[in-house]
Amino acid sequence: MSTYRTQYNGSLRKENIGERVKLVGWVSKKRNFGQLCFIDLRDTTGICQLVFDEEIAPQVKDVRNEYVIEAEGVVEGRKDINPNMPTGEIEVIVDKVKIINSAKTTPLIIADETDALEDTRMEYRYLDLRRPIMQQRLKTRHAISRSLRDYLDNNGFLEIETPMLGKSTPEGARDYLVPSRVHPGSFYALPQSPQLYKQLLMIAGFDKYYQFARCFRDEDLRADRQTDFTQVDIETSFLTEQEIMEFTEEMLCKVMKEVKGIDVPRPFLKLSWTDAMNRYGSDKPDNRFKMEFHDLSKLFAQSEFPVFQGVKTIKGFTAEQFHASNKEVKKLTDFVKKNGGKGLVVFKMSEGALSGPAKKFLSAEEERALIDEMGVKDGDTIFIVADEWRKACNALGALRNEIASQQGLKKPNEFSFLWVVDFPMFEWSEEEGRFVSEHHPFTMPKTEDLPLLDSDPAKVKTNAYDIILNGYELGGGSMRIYDNELQKKIFKLLGLNDEDIKNKFGFFVDAFQYGTPPHGGLALGFDRVAMILAETDSIRDVIAFPKNAAAKCPMSKAPTPVDPKQLEELHIEIAKDENE
Ligand code: AMO
Ligand code: AMP
Repeated sequence: MSTYRTQYNGSLRKENIGERVKLVGWVSKKRNFGQLCFIDLRDTTGICQLVFDEEIAPQVKDVRNEYVIEAEGVVEGRKDINPNMPTGEIEVIVDKVKIINSAKTTPLIIADETDALEDTRMEYRYLDLRRPIMQQRLKTRHAISRSLRDYLDNNGFLEIETPMLGKSTPEGARDYLVPSRVHPGSFYALPQSPQLYKQLLMIAGFDKYYQFARCFRDEDLRADRQTDFTQVDIETSFLTEQEIMEFTEEMLCKVMKEVKGIDVPRPFLKLSWTDAMNRYGSDKPDNRFKMEFHDLSKLFAQSEFPVFQGVKTIKGFTAEQFHASNKEVKKLTDFVKKNGGKGLVVFKMSEGALSGPAKKFLSAEEERALIDEMGVKDGDTIFIVADEWRKACNALGALRNEIASQQGLKKPNEFSFLWVVDFPMFEWSEEEGRFVSEHHPFTMPKTEDLPLLDSDPAKVKTNAYDIILNGYELGGGSMRIYDNELQKKIFKLLGLNDEDIKNKFGFFVDAFQYGTPPHGGLALGFDRVAMILAETDSIRDVIAFPKNAAAKCPMSKAPTPVDPKQLEELHIEIAKDENE
C-alpha cells in the first residue's frame, strides 16, 4: 500500500483478524484503563481502535487528540463488539508506535456533531474538513462529479475550457471586475457563466460541449448561493428542447442511481411557469408535499369582507392537521407581509365548522363552498391571501414553504425532480423602468409568440426550462436565438441601442452572421446538486473553502486591502469614505 501503512483504518474487518498491520492517522480519542490505553485512530476512511500496553509503548502517555501517529500490531477480535462502528468487531494490539507529529488543542471538536460557530468552522476550515461528515460530503460531491463526467464523456460531449478573464457583459448579477495593469482604466470581468463562449463554440461547430465551469457573481449570499460556484455547463447543436430535457433526465437519473442508489421515475413532471406560480406560488416548487393552491376569486366574488373586495386574485391552501395559536398566526401573518403580501386570512376547521377572525364576514353558503373547495377536515387550517396575482402567488408560496418546514415535510432523503417550462421572456423592472430578461437575452421566444414582441412583450413566453429538485433551482437553460435580427430586436426591447449592442455584444452579434446552427443547452448548479444529494441545506457544507454570508473568507480574511504599490501599478486610487 505504502511505506507508511499496510491498510486504511476504516477498512479493517474481522476477516483481517490475525494479520499484522501498519496504520497511520490522527488520534481521534484516547482512553486509559489502568495500564492499557485505547486510541481511536482516524484517517479519511474511518476509525479503528488501537490498544496499547503502556509498558511496551511508554511514549503513548504523551499522545493527545489530533496527534499524527504510526502504529504497528496485530488485528484481534473484540470482546465487546461495537455495532455502531464499521470496524467495531476488531481492534489492533499495538507493539510498535511512533509519534509523527504533535497537535495543539483544536478550537473545534473533530466529530460529526459540532456546536462550533460557522465562522469558527470556516476560520479553521482544515480542521472542520477533518470531521467525518465533512469528508463524506466532499466525497459525495466527487461521486456526483465522476458520474456526470462519465455520462457526458460517454455521450459525445467534449470538455472545453473558456476564459476566466473576459469582457464585462450585463447578464443579470453584478460582475467581479479585474483591473488590467497593461491597459490603464480597463477591466476584465470574471464570468457569471460561460454563456457567450458556449454559444460561440456551437457556431464553431463543436456540436456537444460541457465544462465544469467556475462562475462568479457579486450578489447577496444566501444558503444556496456563493460568490464563486461551479456550473456543469452544457451546450448542444441540432437538438430540440425535448431532446435536451431527455438527456438531462437520463444523466440525473444515472447520478441518483450511482450516488444515492435511488431509481427516479421518468419522465419528470413538467409544469408551465404559469401553472407552477398558480398552483404552488413559486417558479421552483417543492413537490415533496402537496398543499396546492385553490383559486377562490369566484367563490368570494360577492364577499362582504372588505379584504376580498376589488382584488384581482384570491388564493388559498389547506395545511392538514395544522394547529397554530393566535400568537403563531400573528407570526405567520408577519411572515406573509415580509414576503410582499398585505395580510393573511386564517380559518381553522373543527367540528365541521370554520372559525377565525374573518368568520363573521362569511355567509353560510360561502363557508360551505369554502369547506368543499378546500376539502378541509377537522384539525386542518386554511390560509388565504388576496392581492395582485404575482404578489398573492409569491406571498402564499413563501408561506407554503414555511408551513412545510414547520410540519417537517421537507424530508432530506426524499428527492422530487420536476421541470418548469414556458417562462416569460421579460419581467418589468419597476426599479429600472424597463423590461429585464427573466432568463437571459439569448433565450428563444416561442415561435407563436413572436408577433407579441411588437404588441405586448410582457406576454411573450420562451423555450426555457428550469430543472427543480426539492424546491431548489438545480439548473436552467433554453433554446437560443440563432437569428441575428431577432437577437437585435430583443436587445432593443431590453433598452439597448445600436451603439450599446455594438459595444457590449459586438463580437457575439458578428459571429451570428457566419452560419449559426440551431442550438440550446443548460447549466446545472453543481454545488446545489451536491448540497441536496449530501442532504444538507447549506451550500457551504459541500464547498471546501467557502465564503460566509458576508462574502468573506474567515480563514484567509479575503477580501483584504492590498499594498499601495499594487494599486499604483493598476492605476487605481481608493476614494476616501466620506464618513471617515
Ligand atoms: P443560471 O443563471 O440560471 O443560468 O445559472 C444556472 C445554475 O447555476 C446555479 N447558480 C448558483 N449556484 C450557487 N451560487 C450562485 N450564486 C448561483 N447562481 C446560479 C443554479 C442555477 O440554476 N448561462 C445560463 C445557463 C444556460 O442558459 O445554459 C445560466 O448561467 O443552480
Ligand atoms: P385589516 O382590514 O387590514 O385589519 O385586515 C384584517 C385581516 O385581514 C387581518 O388578519 C389581515 O392580516 C388580513 N388581510 C389584510 N389584507 C389582506 C390580504 N390582501 N389578503 C389576505 N388577508 C389580508
